[in-house]
This record gives sequence, structure tokens and C-alpha cells, in this order.
Amino acid sequence: MGSERLGAFNEAHVKLINEYLDSNLTRFAKSCSQRFTPLLEAMRYSLEGGGKRLRPLLVLSAAEALGIKAKDVLPAACAMEYIHTYSLIHDDLPALDDDDTRRGKPSSHKRFGEAVAILAGDALLTEAFGQVLLLGESKTFHPAQILGVIDLLAHNSGVRGMVGGQLLDVTIDTTDASLPEIEFIHIHKTGALILASVLIPTKLIPLEEEKSQKFRRYGEALGLAFQISDDILDSETSMRYSRGPRKKPKPCYTQVMSPSEMREKLNRLINSAITAIESLGDKAQNLVDIAEIIRTRKA
Ligand code: FPP
Ligand code: MG
Repeated sequence: MGSERLGAFNEAHVKLINEYLDSNLTRFAKSCSQRFTPLLEAMRYSLEGGGKRLRPLLVLSAAEALGIKAKDVLPAACAMEYIHTYSLIHDDLPALDDDDTRRGKPSSHKRFGEAVAILAGDALLTEAFGQVLLLGESKTFHPAQILGVIDLLAHNSGVRGMVGGQLLDVTIDTTDASLPEIEFIHIHKTGALILASVLIPTKLIPLEEEKSQKFRRYGEALGLAFQISDDILDSETSMRYSRGPRKKPKPCYTQVMSPSEMREKLNRLINSAITAIESLGDKAQNLVDIAEIIRTRKA
């Protein structure tokens, strides 16, 4: 499965992320009335549904590339997984993609009913911002820097990022979408959250603009590359394990590019992502490894 592949190069990071997600949700649940248990159960079901943890891995790897300890950014890594998980729960709803399965299991609304699935998504999004505030617990970061992370997440996950992209994804006329339109959707719907994951650590320490631009170029190229790799996987398999058969047509690169053009574009973007951070040296090796895994991913 995908999580094994992404984790293979850095099991320590995946372990850190999974343990933090688990202990943190347990701690959070203890602060809630037992009446809310069904909501917490639905949140946990999707959080532990077998995701690759790509976004939190990017947060930890970008932090280490800047000399920040991985454990100090775990709350932000967890926030990214919360936002990603909420987006998948809502994406699967009948009003959006209407997908019955996710990662080989019933999607949230199939397991818990639509009302609880909608609320589990709402809860994950809201609590993600509470998570970011926990960055303050280690006393490593200045409150103004933590506010910078909140600003970044609001920007990249909201109207100007993922939610805006999702609006276009579900409303576009898929029969004659052009390449620039499809790319605009992908940059927002998928790329914005991946870019935010890479940029979070750049907000947490004083950093010269030139250096933060390297992370931005890496994150932008990787975000688009990831969606192209997703479209390639979709085009190669009529039924993806991760999602099940599609009920609704989606704007995707397959409509405007041949398989070899998609491959070529994916390679170009991965090369640009790696070039952008090359000068950071060994500290950025995990970021390079993630890019290489996306180049050849099979799940
Ligand atoms: C798979 O990620 C997900 C994508 C390629 C992004 C698709 C975008 C959305 C679902 C946005 C939906 C937005 C709203 C507001 C509903 P992955 O392969 O990392 O998934 P994994 O966690 O299962 O590994
Ligand atoms: Mg979708």
C-alpha cells in the first residue's frame, strides 16, 4: 500500500506522525463530553484509514531542511492531516464526488451516515486551527510566527486555495475544459495544501526571502506533480483501490494530454522541485526522496 512506500524511506517520521495523531486525539477526546463520542469515532475512522501521510511528512521534512526539530512541528503536521482528511470526507459525499469507498473501505458517509460525515469533516477543519495553536506549547516559536502559519492555512485551504479549486472541480463543464483551466483547478484543489505543508516551517523562523522562495518553488512544482501523478494512476486503472470506481466525470489531464505528455510533464515538474532545493544540501534529502517517490508512485 502507498503508506508503506512513502514511509519506507523514513519510517521514523511516519511513526512520529501516527503516534502524535493517536495520542493527540485521545487527549482531545478526554476534554470533550462523552455525548460527542460518535463524532470523535468518525474523525478517528478517517484519520486512521490508511493515508500515506504525505502532507505531514512534508511538514517534518521541510522543518528538518531548515534545522527545525521534527517533533517541534508535529502539531502543524497533524493540522495538515486534519484538513486533508476533512477534504476527503466531504469530497466523497453524494453532493460532491459521491464515492462509496475510500482507501478500500466504506467512505465516511457510508459508514456513519451523511450528517455525521459532514460534521466529522467540519470538526476536523475547525480543530486543525486549534492544533496549530499547540505549536506554542514547546515555547520554541514566537506567537507572531504561529499566526503566520494560521494565515497560510486559511489562505491555502479556503476560497483562495483548496475550497476554491474544489468549486471549479465540481462546476466545470468537463466536456471541453482547456489545459490552463484544468491546471488552475489542480493548483488550487490539490497543490495549495501540499504547498502549505512545505511552507509552514518557513513561517516559523526568521528566514531570508530568497531561501523561502526555494521552498515555494519546490512546493508548487510538487503540488502540481502530485495531481498529475494522480491523474496518471486514474488513467491506468479503471478502479483505484484508494477511491473505488468514479461515478462522476472529473476535469483531469487525461482530457488534454496523451499519457506520454503527462509522464513528460510529471518528470519536468519533479526535476524542477528537486533543483529548487538542491542548494540546501543533505538536510533536504527527505524532500528530494518524497519528490522521487511521487515521480514513480503506484498508489
Ligand atoms: C489524494 O491524496 C487527494 C488528492 C489528490 C486531492 C484531491 C482534492 C480534494 C479531495 C479536495 C476536496 C476539497 C473539498 C473542500 C471537499 P492522497 O493520495 O495523499 O490521499 P491519502 O491520504 O489517501 O494517501
Ligand atoms: Mg474529487
